[in-house]
Amino acid sequence: MEIIYSVAELRMRLKQEQSVGFVPTMGNLHAGHIELTRQVRERVSCVVLSIFVNRLQFGPNEDFDKYPRTFLDDCDRCREAGVDIVFAPDEKEMYPVPQDYLVEPPEIQHILDGAVRPGHFRGVATVVLKLFNMVQPHVALFGKKDYQQCRVLSNMVRQFNLPVEMILAETVRAADGLALSSRNGYLTAAERSEAPQLFAALNRVKSALLAGESDLAAIERRTVNELSSRGWRPDYISIRRQSDLLAPQHGDRDLVVLAAARLGTTRLIDNLEVSL
Ligand code: PAJ
Repeated sequence: MEIIYSVAELRMRLKQEQSVGFVPTMGNLHAGHIELTRQVRERVSCVVLSIFVNRLQFGPNEDFDKYPRTFLDDCDRCREAGVDIVFAPDEKEMYPVPQDYLVEPPEIQHILDGAVRPGHFRGVATVVLKLFNMVQPHVALFGKKDYQQCRVLSNMVRQFNLPVEMILAETVRAADGLALSSRNGYLTAAERSEAPQLFAALNRVKSALLAGESDLAAIERRTVNELSSRGWRPDYISIRRQSDLLAPQHGDRDLVVLAAARLGTTRLIDNLEVSL
């Protein structure tokens, strides 16, 4: 496995490859990230995983400084998983000049997580466009764990005609249902044992929808109250349609329940698709 830090070297190296599969990450790799590399391994001649903690997508009061950086362990994991190249640009390489050309996603960047994290999806879309231009992958993989991110980026690829096939992979979970996330490491032991309740709540919403309950606002309110009474501080529990994450209209059958909630100081997100 090679570790490459510069765009120029990466471009030289990738010239010889027939097909490139790409998994962008911010490091602190877990089984969810590794699963993304597995899903593309057989399809391409070269698997590239990038590690870059992107300041542009963090708000001023968010966890950029304390975001876990575990580069050596990450490289070990990538080696074991058969990744060919770890691309690890530093901040100077990614942003040699202040990044004042930005990708400005439409309204979808301001709802749900975007309402709580202003500028987040602009930062994500901008760095992913840059990464796509650096790596020029044929296939790129993203996890549905970050459902809104998947929608923002898939629409960007479509509207800018980027020559990359997007694969959106299912969320990898711990045995108790908690979606794997780098931020799970912030949880205390007591919070970690409470954390699977977020997925449990999503499953109750799913059951209610499948049972035919139709007052979506009432289901959302009830679920917020259930979590609040257990000590969570929910940002939102929202039932949306999968296609554009707007409120379902009559007849929409492909829905997704999205949740974000704080447990202590840690903010967890999760979601569950429901097809009626
Ligand atoms: P990061 O949070 O490191 O996630 C990298 C990729 O792994 C994302 O596509 C994310 O959805 C996926 N992922 C995370 N947890 C997962 C899980 N439990 N199961 C399946 N996939 C999972 O998302 C980012 O980084 C950044 O925003 C990035 C796209 C790299 C841009 O900076």
